[in-house]
Amino acid sequence: MEIIRDIQSMRAWREAARPEHVGLVPTMGALHEGHLSLIRIARERAPKVVVSIYVNPTQFAAHEDLDHYPRTFEEDRRRCEELGVDAIFCPDDAMMYPPGCLTWVHVSQLDSALEGQSRPTHFRGVATIVTKLFAIVQPDCAVFGWKDAQQFLLLRRMVNDLNLPVEMIGAEIVREPDGLAMSSRNVYLSEDERREAPALQRALLLAEQIVKDQPGILATALKRRMEQSILSESRFRIDYIAIVNLETLQPLAHVEPGATLIALAAWMGQTRLIDNIRV
Ligand code: PAJ
Repeated sequence: MEIIRDIQSMRAWREAARPEHVGLVPTMGALHEGHLSLIRIARERAPKVVVSIYVNPTQFAAHEDLDHYPRTFEEDRRRCEELGVDAIFCPDDAMMYPPGCLTWVHVSQLDSALEGQSRPTHFRGVATIVTKLFAIVQPDCAVFGWKDAQQFLLLRRMVNDLNLPVEMIGAEIVREPDGLAMSSRNVYLSEDERREAPALQRALLLAEQIVKDQPGILATALKRRMEQSILSESRFRIDYIAIVNLETLQPLAHVEPGATLIALAAWMGQTRLIDNIRV
C-alpha cells in the first residue's frame, strides 16, 4: 500500500493504474467500522482502491471542532492495509489550499436545508474538497455513507450537474450493537452520554413503525411523537427533526412512501450527533 502525500505523485499513481478502474473512499480519518464498510464496497466495485484521509478545514466553522477532531493515522493506515487498500492519499493543508485559492463549489438549495441551517458554510467546504479530490484522483466510482444523507444527496446532485464522470455509490449506515450510528465524534461522549445516545435511532425506528401503521399521518404529528420519544428517554437537546423529500430535501406535509428522508440532529452535552432513516 502506498502512502501518497502530494498531488503530483497521486496523479502519477493514477496514470500508472490505467486502464484499471479506481474506487475512491473520501474520509477525514479516525476510521471506524462505518468507514471500513465503504472501503469493502469500493473493493467489490473496483480493482484499485484509494482512501483519502484529510481533515478538511473549510467544512468546519470557526466555533466547530477542527482542532479537536480525532487524528489516528497509524491505526487508520493499519486498517487500510488489512483491507487491501492500494493507496492512501493524505495531503496537508498547504497542498490542498495554497494561498490564492478563490474558487468554491456551491450546490444551491440542497446546501441550505437540514444541516445547512446551523452550518451555513459546511457544504460549500465539502463540495469543494470532494471536487478537488475527484480532479486529483480521477476515480471511476466513489463511495459515501448514508450516515451523512444530505452530503451524499448533495454530492450526487453536484456530480450530475457538473457532468463529472464518477459513479456515486451510497452505503448503508453501520451502527453499534445498541443502534447508535457509528461516528468519529462518538468518542467525545462521556460514559453516561454514550448510554443515552441510542435514543436517536429509537425515535427513527418509532417513526418508521408509525408510518407503517398510519401512512397518512401529518409530518408535524410524526415529528412531535419523535420529539417526545427522544426527550422522555435522554438528555438530548434537539436541533432539528426534518421530514423531507429524498431528492429535493424540501419539507413534506405527509410522508411520501419510498421518497422520504427523516433526518435529525441533536446535542448531547457538547457533542452534536446526526442520524436518519429513509421511509
Ligand atoms: P467522514 O466523516 O470521515 O466520513 C467519511 C465517509 O464515511 C462519509 O461518506 C460518511 O457518510 C461515511 N460514514 C461515516 N459514518 C458512517 C456510518 N456509521 N455508516 C456508514 N457510513 C459512514 O464525511 C466526511 O468524512 C467528509 O465530509 C468528506 C466527505 C471526507 C469530505 O471532507
